[in-house]
Amino acid sequence: MKGILITFEGLDGCGKSTQVHRLAERLQQLGYQPIIVREPGATPLSERIRHLLLDASADITPLAEMLLFNAARAQLVDTVLRPALETGSIVLCDRFADSTTAYQGYGRGLPIELVLACNQIATRGLTPTLTFFLDVPVELAFQRHRSSDRMERAGRDFFERVRNGYWEIARRQPERIICIDATRPPEEVHTTIWEHVRQYLPSEASASEGFY
Ligand code: TMP
Repeated sequence: MKGILITFEGLDGCGKSTQVHRLAERLQQLGYQPIIVREPGATPLSERIRHLLLDASADITPLAEMLLFNAARAQLVDTVLRPALETGSIVLCDRFADSTTAYQGYGRGLPIELVLACNQIATRGLTPTLTFFLDVPVELAFQRHRSSDRMERAGRDFFERVRNGYWEIARRQPERIICIDATRPPEEVHTTIWEHVRQYLPSEASASEGFY
């Protein structure tokens, strides 16, 4: 695969979306044309699944929830991510398979091996080049982001398990996952992210030579 897949992970309220857009802006200033997607979502089917998953009135078992997140992902991987990466694009993804491991595995308590196996099926082995785990304490995440969607109603203990789950995932794959203290000011967080991303970029001139 010629392109670069960069994913952003963390609790809601950790500042992922701000960082995705800040990085996209910087890449654009250098002549790259990054593709920005969010999970679940970014394809018509995946957005419909997102709507179902976040509907506060929906009754969804943990297993069904995990399969739905992965169904949305399978559609995104096959129709957007793989084609983009094959043509050399830089893709910035607001959440990816690590979210399912953290939320449905560690958070909901589904067996981790089962979740990893389903993630593998949905992604068909597509692994991010680089993942940023933006870590904030649950309390701060709650202060920054309050919503009443189905996932957000899960309660404090759930989010503590998700946060600890992310640390466990990161411990297992230190070469791919960069943990960042996201309680720091957004511009400092961006500077740290940029220091990592720039090492994966070809020279700036390549942006006009087919590397997007
Ligand atoms: P977002 O608010 O970051 O767009 O994500 C939507 C919600 O879905 C958020 O609470 C995290 C949750 N989620 C999972 O539980 N599992 C997943 O695999 C993904 C992608 C998101």
